[in-house]
Amino acid sequence: MSLPAAVLDALRDAVGPAHVLTDPDATGGYAIDWTGRFRGRTPAVVRPADSDEVARVLAACNEARVPVVPQGGNTGLVGGSVPGAGEVVVSLRRLDRIESVDPRAAQLTAGAGATIAAVQRAASGAGFRYAVDLGAREVATVGGTIATNAGGLHVLRYGPTRRQVVGIEAVLADGRTIRRLEGLEKDNTGYDLVSLLCGSEGTLAVVTAARLRVVPRLACTVTALVAFDSVAEAVDAVGTCRRDLDSLHAVELFLGDGLQLVCEHLALPRPFPDRHHAYLLVECAAATDPSEQLGDVVASLATARAVAVAVDDARRRNLWRYREGHTEAINQLGAPHKFDVTLPADRLAPFVDSIGDVVRAVVPEARVWVFGHAGDGNVHVNVTGVAPDDDAPAEAVLTAVARAGGSISAEHGIGVAKRRWLPLTRSATELELFRALKQAFDPRGILNPRVLVPPEP
Ligand code: FAD
Ligand code: MLT
Ligand code: ZN
Repeated sequence: MSLPAAVLDALRDAVGPAHVLTDPDATGGYAIDWTGRFRGRTPAVVRPADSDEVARVLAACNEARVPVVPQGGNTGLVGGSVPGAGEVVVSLRRLDRIESVDPRAAQLTAGAGATIAAVQRAASGAGFRYAVDLGAREVATVGGTIATNAGGLHVLRYGPTRRQVVGIEAVLADGRTIRRLEGLEKDNTGYDLVSLLCGSEGTLAVVTAARLRVVPRLACTVTALVAFDSVAEAVDAVGTCRRDLDSLHAVELFLGDGLQLVCEHLALPRPFPDRHHAYLLVECAAATDPSEQLGDVVASLATARAVAVAVDDARRRNLWRYREGHTEAINQLGAPHKFDVTLPADRLAPFVDSIGDVVRAVVPEARVWVFGHAGDGNVHVNVTGVAPDDDAPAEAVLTAVARAGGSISAEHGIGVAKRRWLPLTRSATELELFRALKQAFDPRGILNPRVLVPPEP
């Protein structure tokens, strides 16, 4: 797993010797994913400072046919950001410059390494918001969220990352650069390469900067936690919220056993004296106070068993901890297998109710946790108590999803975790096109070669 001396020299020339890390103590953190399930080793972590340096790094690796893994915040949950087969890691974190918002266009330009929280702060400083928000906001980067087409908490209102991206600067495997950062909202000149790179998981090009839309900042936000006796009742309530709340900003689902785990692991008080089977976190945001509207709708839900409403930021944040704490609390049980799936709305409740039994039928000792973005039909099925390399949970969950007409990835991507199962929801013809695109962008196959695109059958 060592690099030819000429390649190391070229990398040091490109970024400066201080930014080529080879000591395993220094590279270790780049070679293990956030969950601890995906681990690897790398001969070098290269930390370019700008797109020219990225171009020189990629040109050198391409010339020598050295595979690379682009990496942003390394919060990805499908193993796509770690060097599982001794790849060079190209870390984009130093490309973190954010240019000020152009209020006339409602856009800003950010480097690939800027964190989502930093973009949110920049937007907010100019009276706007960045519409993408997710629990990993302090670490996840612009480049990583574009590469995974991240979803998050407000997809039902604003769409996923792809919808926020007006332009991209990206470096191809051979070091050539494409740059479309002018911010043209209308540009009908052929294939949409910008959109194609959204969700490409570092397999087609390395994103170095993006032109992003920002949306109006909404001054008033109110959050309600509502308890139900069944998932079906909660899912029906989602429909009511969608119909009756024009300020609906987020609708998140979690279950009683997940809430119990979060309260235990994060030492939180229980939200209600009684235990319930399913919970919805419903948030509204508007220019004027939506509390009354949300209160009326929640009061109209005949199936609601308990309700807590929070208007001030501190109490709202406390309610969000019950939902956002799931990822961290589950991880404390040991590296989970994470399945991030979407179901058609009419299949969501039966799927959630049955998926635990589906998994335990093949791995009896497994524990199954379900939570997610109910407003988008997107649930996260997490399985703990299983060896990291046991494929049985993936086979069971992803096959059940495909049978129910769903997608095996709603927002985290395919990575290495789900590549084998991509044919469940992508046809042979589509996969041929995937391979043709990969070949066109990256003929030597150096960019994230183990990720997303399955090999020829
Ligand atoms: P990384 O993990 O570094 O990389 C992810 C993928 O993108 C890899 O394939 C990598 O090769 C590629 N990549 C990274 N940077 C670039 C680049 N500049 N150019 C080309 N390819 C690149 N995801 C959601 O969608 N919704 C959520 O609600 C959500 N919540 C999360 C909460 C927590 C607590 C955690 C830990 C993760 C969560 N995630 C969520 C997953 C993760 O944050 C997203 O997938 C995010 O987009 C990854 O960004 P990153 O910068 O960490 O990318
Ligand atoms: C979430 O919605 O919390 C994230 O996608 C992270 C996860 O699935 O754990
Ligand atoms: Zn999510």
